[in-house]
Amino acid sequence: MKSAIPLVTLAAIAAASPVIKRQPGGVTDVGILNYALTFEHLEDKFYREGLANYTQADFVQAGFADPFYDNLKEISYDETTHVSFLRTALSSAAVAECTYSFPSTDPASFVALASVLGGVGVSAYLGAAASIANKGYLTDAGSILTVEARHSSYIRASLDESPFPQPFDDPLTFDEVYTLAASFIVSCPSSNNDKPQLPLKAFPFLALGTKGSIKSGDTITLLTPGYILLPKDGKTPIYAAFITVTGPIYVDVTTVQGGFEIEVPAGVNGQSYVVLTTCKEKVNDETVAAGPAIVEISN
Ligand SMILES: *[C@@H]1O[C@H](CO)[C@@H](O)[C@H](O)[C@H]1NC(C)=O
Repeated sequence: MKSAIPLVTLAAIAAASPVIKRQPGGVTDVGILNYALTFEHLEDKFYREGLANYTQADFVQAGFADPFYDNLKEISYDETTHVSFLRTALSSAAVAECTYSFPSTDPASFVALASVLGGVGVSAYLGAAASIANKGYLTDAGSILTVEARHSSYIRASLDESPFPQPFDDPLTFDEVYTLAASFIVSCPSSNNDKPQLPLKAFPFLALGTKGSIKSGDTITLLTPGYILLPKDGKTPIYAAFITVTGPIYVDVTTVQGGFEIEVPAGVNGQSYVVLTTCKEKVNDETVAAGPAIVEISN
C-alpha cells in the first residue's frame, strides 16, 4: 500500500487568500474541499468501525464470500487515504472528524449502508464538480470520484444489485448531501466552526416508508417523521422531484397519514434521490421542502 502524496497544497492559499473566510452564500474551493473532507471522515470512520465490529467469518456467514472482507479492507484504506490527502491539502484549515451514529448492527445492514454511502459519495463529488474553480482540484476530486464509483459498483454487485444501473449518475447539491450525511453526525468538535466551510443547511428529513423491491410505476410512501409539512403560504402545492443529471422529474403527491404517496416515474434506476418541492419549475435551496429520501429502484 502506498502513502498519500498530496497533489494540491491549499495551506499556502488558505493562509494568503481572503476568499477562504466563511461568507454567507460563499462557495470557495477550500470550502468545497472541507465539504469533501467532511464526507470522507464519515466514510472512513464507518469502514473502520465496521471492520472492528465484524470479522471475516461474520461476513462469510452473512453470505459475503472471500475475498469480500479483504476488499472491504482495501476500501477502508482508500477512505483513510482520501482523508489524509484532503487534510494535508487543507493543512490548518482542515475540519476534524466528528462523532457518528450508524444504524448498522450486523454485516448485512453494514453492507447495505455501505452501498448507500458509496452512492451518495459519487453523487456528492459529481454535484460539487461544477463549483470547483481551480481545474487542478477538479482533477484531484475526479480521481477520488472514480474510485468511489468503483467501490459503489462492487458493493452493489455484492448485494445482487446492478453495479451500473443507469447511463448517468445523479448529481446532488451541497445541501442535499449534507441533509443525508447529517442524519449520521452526532456532534462535531467546536474547532470545526473556525474552519472555512460552505454555508451548509440540512433540509427536513424525508424517509422512504415502502419496504421491498421498487420499480417505476410503483406507488411508494415518503414519510415526514415527527413533523407535518405544510406549504409556506398555506396554498403552495407540494410536488416530489426525482433528481437526475438532465433535470428533475416531477411527480404529483397525495397526502397520506405521516407523509405523502407518489408514483415512481420512468427514467430513474438504481440509487435514486427524491425531494419534496414547493414548485414544479426548479429544484434549489429555496424550493426544496424536505429530503432527499433515497429510493433504490430496480427496473
Ligand atoms: C458497530 O457496533 C456498534 C455496537 O453494536 C453499533 O452501534 C455500530 O453501529 C456498529 N458500526 C457499524 C459501522 O456497523
